[in-house]
Amino acid sequence: MSKGSRHAPRKDDHIFYSLQPDSQFASKTTWLECVELVHNALPEIDLSQVSLTSEFLGFKLRAPLLIAGMTGGTNLAKKLNKMFAMAAEELGVALGVGSQRVALEAPEVMETFSIVREVAVSVPVIANIGASQLVEGLSSDTMGVLVDMVDADAIAVHLNPLQEALQIEGEAKYAGLIKQLELLVKQSPVPVIVKETGAGVSREVAEILATMGIYGVDVGGAGGTSFARIEGARALAKGDRMLLRLSEDFAEWGIPTAASIIEVRNASGKLAIVATGGLRNGIDAAKALRLGADTCGFAYPVLRAAFEGGYEGVLNYVRRVMEGLRRALFLTGARNIGEIRRVPVVIGGKLREWVEFRGLKLP
Ligand SMILES: Cc1cc2nc3c(=O)[nH]c(=O)nc-3n(C[C@H](O)[C@H](O)[C@H](O)COP(=O)(O)O)c2cc1C
Repeated sequence: MSKGSRHAPRKDDHIFYSLQPDSQFASKTTWLECVELVHNALPEIDLSQVSLTSEFLGFKLRAPLLIAGMTGGTNLAKKLNKMFAMAAEELGVALGVGSQRVALEAPEVMETFSIVREVAVSVPVIANIGASQLVEGLSSDTMGVLVDMVDADAIAVHLNPLQEALQIEGEAKYAGLIKQLELLVKQSPVPVIVKETGAGVSREVAEILATMGIYGVDVGGAGGTSFARIEGARALAKGDRMLLRLSEDFAEWGIPTAASIIEVRNASGKLAIVATGGLRNGIDAAKALRLGADTCGFAYPVLRAAFEGGYEGVLNYVRRVMEGLRRALFLTGARNIGEIRRVPVVIGGKLREWVEFRGLKLP
């Protein structure tokens, strides 16, 4: 099934393990359920008048949505990336690819990534590389290869210290990363997005990132896909009992997505915020936007939709999110994405405690 680099089989592993029901956080949630958008019984607008258009990376999107970066490097990944790209192009939403490390090591798999640009010609595409490659230093030539491979409009650097610390082949090397990130931002021909992958970004981290001149942060918060759980399943299959136990211990680790959005927004009013991590429908997206996100990303549910329903499944899923978001705007009386950011909201439970304890302000 896979060809090329020694990393390729791991990419398919991640796809299969992430499709198992226990790949998701179990007791910790996104805390979006602590956010109540106040219902407006007199919205004074027609549903058909609601506009979802938004700006992202200089593009006008039909809705502030992103099919988050997941895969590349194998034949299966190529099929998935093509499906995701077709849906993004059809619906006018943004698109990410998975880590391109595998294609740096085995150039023959570049086409499993570049396929997205052949299909998604008019929407923003985000390249992707991991912190553990960056920490070793990325030459500007290599940066160019990553960007050119998908004719990217931005590059995402993913931070996954939790996953690296629990992965059998993990490279939990983060010393010196800040300096390398600064260098990358200076050298990059396209805007840089720094993203987590399921454990969230704090205000303190976002403050450091904001000084570097990056374009945005994808909070990649807790409450959806849990890479501790995915690595735990891989450790079980490989018979590594210590990593299995450690993965269980850390299965619920991380900053819930709702809290992370507020954390990052408190660090900077200027950073573009992408919200991924446990968003599952249009109401989740509306709440994330109200808390300060600019664009809402979906990974696991899109992958699931692809496996259950192919291209039609992906299309229908993203459409459902879009139409849910449209209705959430209608029911709060918001005409557009700007207005959803100002609708009345009530915050309770753990999110309220977190916000108060951390001294954060709600936008
Ligand atoms: C199978 C799979 C592979 C992923 N691979 C990457 C990756 O290579 N690079 C990256 O930045 N994020 C990766 N992610 C993380 C997602 O982009 C996203 O931040 C995270 O899954 C949380 O969103 P979700 O709860 O909607 O899945 C991956 C997610 C999944 C499910």
